[in-house]
Amino acid sequence: MRTWIKSLRPTEPRTDAREAERFIRLFHAENPGGGLNARLRDVAREIARRGTYTHTGEELRFGARVAWRNSNRCIGRLYWKSLRVRDRRHVTGAEGVAVECVAHLREATGDGRIRPTITVFPPDAPGRPAPRVLNEQLVRYAGYRRPDGSVAGDPRYVAFTALARELGWRGGGGGRFDVLPLVVDPGTGGRPLLANLPGDAVLEVPITHPEFAWFVELGLRWHAVPAISNLCLEIGGVGYPCAPFNGWYMGAEIGARNLADADRYDQLPAVAARLGLDTSTERSLWRDHALVELNVAVLHSFAAAGVTMTDHHTESSRFLTHLAREEKAGRTCPADWSWIVPPISGGVTPVFHRYYDNPTLTPNFVPRH
Ligand code: ARG
Repeated sequence: MRTWIKSLRPTEPRTDAREAERFIRLFHAENPGGGLNARLRDVAREIARRGTYTHTGEELRFGARVAWRNSNRCIGRLYWKSLRVRDRRHVTGAEGVAVECVAHLREATGDGRIRPTITVFPPDAPGRPAPRVLNEQLVRYAGYRRPDGSVAGDPRYVAFTALARELGWRGGGGGRFDVLPLVVDPGTGGRPLLANLPGDAVLEVPITHPEFAWFVELGLRWHAVPAISNLCLEIGGVGYPCAPFNGWYMGAEIGARNLADADRYDQLPAVAARLGLDTSTERSLWRDHALVELNVAVLHSFAAAGVTMTDHHTESSRFLTHLAREEKAGRTCPADWSWIVPPISGGVTPVFHRYYDNPTLTPNFVPRH
């Protein structure tokens, strides 16, 4: 079982007291109400005594929202204050984590009215690593390499699918859209737990086109909720390695990446063939034409299913609104141009035509070590 051993990590070092102080000061600066000095004293004392400290519920809620606000790759930050924070720091054990991830999906999906939500599980403590979800997202599709080298399903998850099977997953039927099980590392050095997501916790949307009836025959679908589960929420020197969070989709993430990338579902040739485009020359712009119809289909399908989704034009202008608001509040809004600009029609969105400051701020979501 060598494949999952590498997910085990050394125990967390002590919390950096200066990081803790910076965060407590930020919290009090943005949430005036007094008590700064007493809180600073308590935090310093707790770190001296046990190597780390415990955030109050208010600090955790604020920290998680600011982590979103500081996410330089995210175009959708206008609503950062509305993030719902599920404080699940009392949950111990892999089973509890799996159960709460399922509850997260149900609450966040809201029958299609998607609610940006984060569930925060216990932090690693000195000498005591906490459980963590090994999936990149709570909902993703399996990928199976066929004997001829081609892949059924999502090629991005071939290795993860193999890991799940090695751990005993038998659910994978070899289909194109098999929802992967949760794989939860208990943090104790034991074997990861496999948990299938109940069907009613995973809302999916079949992809159809408003004009082309044949589109449904492509057999495409996508899940409603993008819930990233492999980043560590870092607040004031404390790392929460298990803190899955979701927003709602921007259509292009699915239509211009997941279903279109040559190393993902690679659907442009199939769409172009159905459209009867000339694929013998790049100059017919068959890829571009197919890409637009695929994106029209994704936006149409989510709307028809009553599932929250935004488009890249609306989201680009919202982002500039967010930027202006942040500046007005006296803050820099860090942004990575190469992630903010949409993967389709970049130059016809306003976010393309300027550059951004991009310092790394905390709280934030960082890769786990
Ligand atoms: N691009 C990723 C995906 O397709 C999701 C990233 C987060 N996206 C979001 N809208 N919150 O699944």
